[in-house]
Amino acid sequence: MSTPPAIRWEAGELRLLDQRQLPHRLEYLRIDGIPAAVDAIASLAVRGAPAIGMAAAYALAVAARRSGDVAKVLDEGGDALIAARPTAVNLRWAVERLRRRGAADGSAAALAEEAEAIHREDAAACRGIGEQGLDLIQPGDNLLTHCNAGALAVSELGTATAPMYLSHQAGVPFHVYVDETRPLFQGARLTAWELGAAGIDLTLICDSAAASLMAAGKIDLIIVGTDRIARNGDVVNKIGTLNLAVLASHFGVPFYVACPSSTFDPTTETGGEVNIEERGEEEVRQDHAAAVAAFNPAFDVTPANLVTGVITERGIARPPLGRSLLELLE
Ligand code: MRU
Repeated sequence: MSTPPAIRWEAGELRLLDQRQLPHRLEYLRIDGIPAAVDAIASLAVRGAPAIGMAAAYALAVAARRSGDVAKVLDEGGDALIAARPTAVNLRWAVERLRRRGAADGSAAALAEEAEAIHREDAAACRGIGEQGLDLIQPGDNLLTHCNAGALAVSELGTATAPMYLSHQAGVPFHVYVDETRPLFQGARLTAWELGAAGIDLTLICDSAAASLMAAGKIDLIIVGTDRIARNGDVVNKIGTLNLAVLASHFGVPFYVACPSSTFDPTTETGGEVNIEERGEEEVRQDHAAAVAAFNPAFDVTPANLVTGVITERGIARPPLGRSLLELLE
């Protein structure tokens, strides 16, 4: 893979690629405990649902080694990490997994082992998603993706990008339109950068160009990632995903969501129950607007009935989504 790893774990040290600075600067932050990890997650130095879960897991292992009071680290440190970003279920999932391991074996070494296992499983899940989704991409297809559900958000192949990377490796010719993804430009800064570095043919577009491209019949397939899928199949992902799903339904474009099984949250009945993170107004205003009020929800909910399928490492769930996800993943 040409993309540098978002998370490096070497000799018990945690380093996170500072994604706020991409694509201009390649700099790793050393994470020496819970406050540094909380800050990195909340400020989007590390971002993407699986990546924040993995970063939290390693941060707990680092903090446990330094503090000696493992129970307190898992309890209070775990709560602080979960609160850093409320929407992606992978964060809570990873912290709870470390807590279960800590209850069985409270050594810092055991926690590090568990975090490494999460990381390994994540890479394997991405490969599985790529293999399951490979046949969806036909020679000559034009794809559309939103935000960054690539290597930077996960590990190695990413989720939404995994079928793209594997198809590209298999020599299938295709092209990807990348939504810039306002307000923080994860598409322009991250997805375009990583797909471009891999040699995948791409065109960057304004988010608002998606409708006219679909109207002109120029999009054959949409694949996006997700931060959480509720029990009924509702999909929570980066703000603007719902726009794409509505458009896809109107123009008859297949709309797929890719995720590892850890992103399915059967304890949340519907997308309406999910706490949607609201971020600072300045992210919307940037340098363009005067000091007016701004609204900045980071995610939206796409109803299950607008989703053609969910590509997981265990297969593709198809409508009725809630039932097929339960059959596939539980
Ligand atoms: O705010 P971000 O950049 O963390 O949002 C990321 C997304 O919305 C991704 O699509 C999602 O986390 C899936 S990553 C495999």
